[in-house]
Amino acid sequence: MSFKGEHILSVSQFDRDTIQQVFHIARNMQPYASRQKRTKVLEGAILGNLFFEPSTRTRVSFGCAFNLLGGEVRETTGMESSALSKGESLFDTARVISSYSDVIAMRHPQAGSVAEFAEGSRVPVLNGGDGANEHPTQALLDLFTIERELAASGQCIDGMHIAMVGDLKFGRTVHSLSKLLKLYKNVRFTLISPNELAMPDEIVSAIENAGHQVSITDVLEGNLNADIVYQTRIQEERFPSKAEANLYRGKFRLNQEIYTRYCKSNTVIMHPLPRDSRQEANELDNDLNLNPNLAIFRQADNGILVRMALFALTLGVENIVGNYECAV
Ligand code: CP
Repeated sequence: MSFKGEHILSVSQFDRDTIQQVFHIARNMQPYASRQKRTKVLEGAILGNLFFEPSTRTRVSFGCAFNLLGGEVRETTGMESSALSKGESLFDTARVISSYSDVIAMRHPQAGSVAEFAEGSRVPVLNGGDGANEHPTQALLDLFTIERELAASGQCIDGMHIAMVGDLKFGRTVHSLSKLLKLYKNVRFTLISPNELAMPDEIVSAIENAGHQVSITDVLEGNLNADIVYQTRIQEERFPSKAEANLYRGKFRLNQEIYTRYCKSNTVIMHPLPRDSRQEANELDNDLNLNPNLAIFRQADNGILVRMALFALTLGVENIVGNYECAV
């Protein structure tokens, strides 16, 4: 399938074949990401990188991915520095920015906002997270990471067991990842959260209707013997108040002692990051940093490869990256 000129707004645009297409291109990006090779395939192209919500990994890795393909990046960060704060519509903003850019990456706090923006855009728009709705590029890099980590121990995604932990209501990464995992076979899901922060019913139903086994619990201990433990942060910014978020912070801490007691010896630990390292939260303790199964930084590294692949595909240059190699 050709992604040239397409927006990437939701994981529902992908099936197993197109996921593998993205992953194949992502693997081919490794020499460029690691600076062994250099390409100028996107020389002269401009990425409009619009982040109306805080971000470290997604914003910077979109920008670096574009630079590594030879393109330039123009950033807008924060609503207050944009004319959106003067009442300009997403449609008008998209019309204008898309005439300055060849592709746009965007994060915005409202669910559905990136799709609304894309309607006004004349160039492909990549969703960098829209409220509690979706984070498709994160889900693709998460799945890429899961595939790589499991392959290292001779396993595959079909038949695996994943435990998702924490704020499964507001965590958009677990929403998008669940929708991708439902495309596979016989995945066992253990969903661990406070009852009030459970995975939305429609996502649970979609997973179950696709034939997967789902267990829902509010107890961490005894439920972590999975192939993958995907920990998440309490999404304070989606709560009505900090006090309400505080009710749930620190409830499901994962540290080396819990890992040793309840996980398998090769359970892979993932987290989309940022992890909340404040003492009252600390959902993923620093004492896991030397655990070889802590995949969080490999996961973040994979974001470059997957975002390079998505730029190459949406701009239609995926097969000519090597034709534009230059001296390192
Ligand atoms: N995983 C993720 O979306 O991180 P940032 O908020 O830092 O972009």
